[in-house]
Amino acid sequence: MSETNRKPCILVTGGAGFIGSHTVCELLNAGYDVVIADNFFNAKPEALDAIREITHKDFVFMEGDVADHEFMEKIFSAHKIDAVIHFAGYKAVGESVAKPLMYYRNNLDTTLTLLETMKKYGCHHLVFSSSATVYAESESMPLYESNPLGTSNPYGETKRMIERILGDTAHADKDASFVCLRYFNPVGAHPSGLLGEDPNGIPNNLMPFIVKVATGKIEKLRVFGNDYDTVDGTGMRDYIHVVDLAKAHLAALEYAFKRTGIDYINIGTGNGTSVLQIVEAFKKVNHVDVPYEITERRPGDLAKVWADTSYAKRVLGFTAEKNIEDMCRDAYNYGVKHMK
Ligand code: UFG
Repeated sequence: MSETNRKPCILVTGGAGFIGSHTVCELLNAGYDVVIADNFFNAKPEALDAIREITHKDFVFMEGDVADHEFMEKIFSAHKIDAVIHFAGYKAVGESVAKPLMYYRNNLDTTLTLLETMKKYGCHHLVFSSSATVYAESESMPLYESNPLGTSNPYGETKRMIERILGDTAHADKDASFVCLRYFNPVGAHPSGLLGEDPNGIPNNLMPFIVKVATGKIEKLRVFGNDYDTVDGTGMRDYIHVVDLAKAHLAALEYAFKRTGIDYINIGTGNGTSVLQIVEAFKKVNHVDVPYEITERRPGDLAKVWADTSYAKRVLGFTAEKNIEDMCRDAYNYGVKHMK
């Protein structure tokens, strides 16, 4: 293929993971060439077969660690990478509190090696998987991109530090074009039931926990507090379907190709949903029971967190389309088929 009609080639680090694999499907369906780099730390090779089955398209897969310079050299010297979507990183809040050095070492090292290699090979476009966790606690919702930053655990701090590293790098390189997507609460699964989230051990997050309860693997859900100042006393979050989130990455990539500098963009639905509202929607749409008990608040949890999404709409033209029922249906469908 000649250089002029070559489709842009996108390196997706962590492309076998939960959000990465869904994003690869969207990229392939949109006609991009894709190289996935993953070390299967928190992902399974079956995700790669699922991507092929869903899209009927192929991609290059490279197994290795993004923090490893030699591995990155291997990728960039063999492929003309036009842009990177960077998902690779550890993501469990509780684990990051217990093993902070592991989180700082891995999440920063992967990003630094990636940026050094991109610079060497003249690759200027990057979409980074950031998080709403970078925002300081706030009494008033929604959260705007201009809200003060502040984190309360090492995982969140790695995201904030990486945003800063990207900001400094973009400032020093006039050709750089970086977009940090601040995700709210990604849930759901691919509607095919072939891709989804299957955390190791007992899940920390609400939706995978509900799926384990609904499929009889865990006896009941513990609802962490019902005395918050919310619609029904339980915590409210901005849940976004992973397929919508994947589409936001495509929009961010197109945005990155059109401009230079760095930008930070919330990706959510803009709606808050309580724990009990999720439980009720899950029961109704899947015709299953979800036994639960109300327990103490979980330390560090906030009453309400949701996004202002107007900036994403304005600059990316992105609006989430799927609702809570879609999220509950697709999460259960995947769980029934795949969760151990
Ligand atoms: N919850 C329960 N029971 C559970 C699990 C969760 O009641 O077993 C409640 C929580 O108290 C909270 C809501 O469900 O009100 C959502 O909790 P999650 O753990 O699913 O999500 P969080 O909002 O706590 O955390 C998410 C991401 C983190 C990110 C954080 C801040 O998982 O990676 O948002 O953006 F850091």
